[in-house]
Amino acid sequence: MTTLLLEAVTKTFGEGPAAVEVLRGVDLAAASGDAIAVTGPSGSGKSTLLHIIGTLERPSGGRLEVDGEDPFRLPDRELARFRNQVTGFVFQDSHLLPQYTVLENVLLPTLAFPPPAAEAEATGRGLLERVGLGHRLGHRPAELSGGERQRVAVARALIHHPAMLLCDEPTGNLDRTNAMAVANLLLELREEFKGLLIVVTHSDEVAARFARRVRLVEGQCFEA
Ligand SMILES: Nc1ncnc2c1ncn2[C@@H]1O[C@H](COP(=O)(O)OP(=O)(O)OP(=O)(O)O)[C@@H](O)[C@H]1O
Ligand SMILES: [Mg+2]
Repeated sequence: MTTLLLEAVTKTFGEGPAAVEVLRGVDLAAASGDAIAVTGPSGSGKSTLLHIIGTLERPSGGRLEVDGEDPFRLPDRELARFRNQVTGFVFQDSHLLPQYTVLENVLLPTLAFPPPAAEAEATGRGLLERVGLGHRLGHRPAELSGGERQRVAVARALIHHPAMLLCDEPTGNLDRTNAMAVANLLLELREEFKGLLIVVTHSDEVAARFARRVRLVEGQCFEA
């Protein structure tokens, strides 16, 4: 069971007259099993919030706690391990490396922090099977459709069984049918892996599938 807590989190980019105050005191509490959709206008700070939760970005103020600890207090190497193993990221563009096969792309996160030999590949194959791409292991990303590439990105994000799966508009580049398929897949996987799922989306239809919906408005977070 993992808990996530944000208390009065602020984020300002730049300084002085050029400063952009993006988050102005975000409070959010979540735990394993939660499926949360984050909505809000463009520029409202949705990606910034997700980056802070995933420790890709430091907050300017306030507290971030995962299981009662502030991950930013970890030494650099441990913070890198936390990011690699506790969080999984899926972005709008799948960010697959074109020169590698589907299976190799899914295994990339294990290069930095290798699990016991042979385990990684078996896990990767299993995940690709689970997302419906078990028959495409040796293909390159360019040979896949956009929806298929996103399913590879989802498998890659799950390779270390992360406690938190963080997705930034994972369906933003997909047509409606594929968008709903990927959203439903994320929700099913959340049930299976018992993790915490947070998905930023512009789609009301995708957001409606989530048990919890939060909206970012003027730098603050409201339960919708
Ligand atoms: N590194 C940065 N330096 C300066 N300003 C930034 C930086 N990153 C984000 N911003 C600004 O912070 C604000 C929020 O950006 P963010 O990307 O979090 O919004 P968003 O809600 O994800 O928008 P979208 O829906 O368009 O993706 C924007 O005004 C953006 O220009
Ligand atoms: Mg964004």
